Amino acid sequence: MTAYYNGFPQSDRDEAISMINLDELEERAKSVMPEGAYYYIASGSENEWTWRNNTTAFNHFQIVPRALTNMTDPQTDTKFMGMDLKTPIMISPIACHGIAHKDAEVATQKGAAAAGALFSSSTYANKSVEDIAAAAPDAPRFFQLYLSKDWEFNKMVFDAVKKAGYKGIFLTVDALVSGYREANLRTKFAYPVPLDFFTRYQGGKGEGQTVAQMYASSAQKIGPDDVRRIKEMSGLPVIVKGVVCAEDAYLAMGAGADGIYVTNHGGREVDSGPATIDMLPEIAKAVNHRVPIIFDSGVRRGSHVFKALALGADIVGIGRPYLYALALGGAKGVESVIKQLNDELIIDMQLTGCKTIEDVKHARLTHFNYTADNLKSNTDPSRITPYPVTKENQMKDDGSDAVSGASQA
Ligand SMILES: Cc1cc2nc3c(=O)[nH]c(=O)nc-3n(C[C@H](O)[C@H](O)[C@H](O)COP(=O)(O)O)c2cc1C
Repeated sequence: MTAYYNGFPQSDRDEAISMINLDELEERAKSVMPEGAYYYIASGSENEWTWRNNTTAFNHFQIVPRALTNMTDPQTDTKFMGMDLKTPIMISPIACHGIAHKDAEVATQKGAAAAGALFSSSTYANKSVEDIAAAAPDAPRFFQLYLSKDWEFNKMVFDAVKKAGYKGIFLTVDALVSGYREANLRTKFAYPVPLDFFTRYQGGKGEGQTVAQMYASSAQKIGPDDVRRIKEMSGLPVIVKGVVCAEDAYLAMGAGADGIYVTNHGGREVDSGPATIDMLPEIAKAVNHRVPIIFDSGVRRGSHVFKALALGADIVGIGRPYLYALALGGAKGVESVIKQLNDELIIDMQLTGCKTIEDVKHARLTHFNYTADNLKSNTDPSRITPYPVTKENQMKDDGSDAVSGASQA
């Protein structure tokens, strides 16, 4: 069934989804989302070069398999800033989950909590910070801040977030204006579902606004003093989101940042900027374990999570894939996507002798210069041609257990 908000179709599913990998969700989500909403998610800025390279650049690093490790049953539970998590995979903040599901962030939070993953909520959420918190009272969560030019608005947001028990603030500094996103222009995208904080505090409904209009109400001028002021006013830890070079990590730490969030906004802001995974090593070196590091942009595989951890991240976020999963399966869909990625991570942990996430952080990677292709596997539906049927290659039902002819080797 589909719910409608002012004529806008919203999924109301709540079912586990099966998948072979995260990439396939991108295509499947089209069936449950209108075109404008879909491309708001599934696009980057300008030529989308950075967006594509965020994922392919993981091939610049290679995981060294380890032998004779005498280890089994790897565990992905981890601690982050005092929080106990079942996985190092995090739900990155994304605006307006209502474009994917009628229960919006409430459903996403439930799915994240069921998977034991850290959730983070955008300033541009449809649901209130209180309703999101009530969806999983014992689960830890962060709040992402688009700083407003109006400090009265900021103060009201801080008070609400603190009262609702959020553990800290991600201050987004890489999206002072919207990147030049052609998809939004072509589809004339505007937020179809009201954004709670705008409804509550500005009287405006935050509905029918374009992305550029929404950004216009937030501050374009953000500096180190703002980090100090937000910490002081909110009384919460502040993690600076949008750091892609060592210089900015130093600046943020100098301003008292409690963490560094390495991201290029999933390739939605500066196009032709470097992939975040390529910048992570220099940032990790600059940070030198003084504060924790969050990483995202382009993560689609357990091996990507593994590499980010091994290169210095403490926790690794995903964006677009969980929104597709939300549309395809609601809270249970979100749980499924985190589980899929975590299961892939566990395979890499077993094959490298990493019993714990701490071991992954010390795992050995190489940095050889292979071509950074990310070809889909030979059995991916987008690549296969029909398998030839011959007299010699057909299975014969002789009553044995053989069912597929697939090799275990
Ligand atoms: C549709 C969409 C909306 C987003 N909204 C926000 C937002 O409100 N605040 C923010 O800090 N980042 C936002 N981001 C960026 C994400 O937090 C994250 O950095 C990015 O999605 C990671 O890349 P990935 O989608 O390739 O995993 C958004 C990303 C997408 C795809």
